[in-house]
Amino acid sequence: MIILGEFMLVNFNDMLKKAKENRFAVPHFNINNLEWTKYILEVCQEKDIPVILGVSEGAAKYMGGYKTISGMVKGLIQELGITIPVCLHVDHGQTFETCKKAIEAGFTSVMIDASRLPLEENIKVTKEVVDYAHQYGVSVEAEVGHIGGTEDNITSSVTNATLEECMAMVQYTGIDALAPALGSVHGFYQGEPNLDFITMKKINETLPIPLVLHGGSGIPDDKIKEAIACGISKINVNTELQVAWSDGVKKALAEKPDLYDPRKVIGAGEEEMKKAIIQKIELFGTKK
Ligand code: 13P
Repeated sequence: MIILGEFMLVNFNDMLKKAKENRFAVPHFNINNLEWTKYILEVCQEKDIPVILGVSEGAAKYMGGYKTISGMVKGLIQELGITIPVCLHVDHGQTFETCKKAIEAGFTSVMIDASRLPLEENIKVTKEVVDYAHQYGVSVEAEVGHIGGTEDNITSSVTNATLEECMAMVQYTGIDALAPALGSVHGFYQGEPNLDFITMKKINETLPIPLVLHGGSGIPDDKIKEAIACGISKINVNTELQVAWSDGVKKALAEKPDLYDPRKVIGAGEEEMKKAIIQKIELFGTKK
């Protein structure tokens, strides 16, 4: 944990432990720019709940790198008087080097996603990241099976995880949270999402660590509630916030086509996006 004056960035261990014990989920909202980060922090502070800010490799590149993002988040926390626990997390880090770079820049949590590799190699890379990250108190999430769909403009297919694979990953690596692929996808769903709740429940009952649901957009509310009841403690959301934000911007530009001030163009998505954030927090039942 990095404590800076009266505000702090934390790893996700405490918040997810409470979520697992009390059957709610902590939101992982992806950030894509300064405005998004500000809106998310403001809403979560207002609701007095912990939050995980997720940064994909593509978003890190877009925003100018991990140091830039870390500085931006710490600055916002200080300037906005944010006192809730905030975890700054790498989303789908593909390599050890990515995770190391982010940790050096002040990220307090990483996801190493080597799920494209066979399980043994996935475990090997994940263990390297755990050994490095834990020296700095940084939490580590890993993926077993493969969560498909489209993220950062890359599309891939789904491979579901098995209980045995999840047990091996946890036993050999010492990770802090696990994202088992169980039918959810990144981006939009074709038809109804088909989540394997039976395996989800079994994994949760067998493993001591919190479980993560990726592809949190587009899953009907009743299925999100069932996933939480089956032991999901962290839910990742990006696409639904993108849609809400861009709906607000499109509406403003349609009403006033001569808008040119970037603060007014980008800022036009604030209300819609904040509504979407509140809806997720209430659905997830997030508490401090
Ligand atoms: P969505 O874009 O489907 O919300 O998924 C986000 C996600 O899982 C990030 O890791």
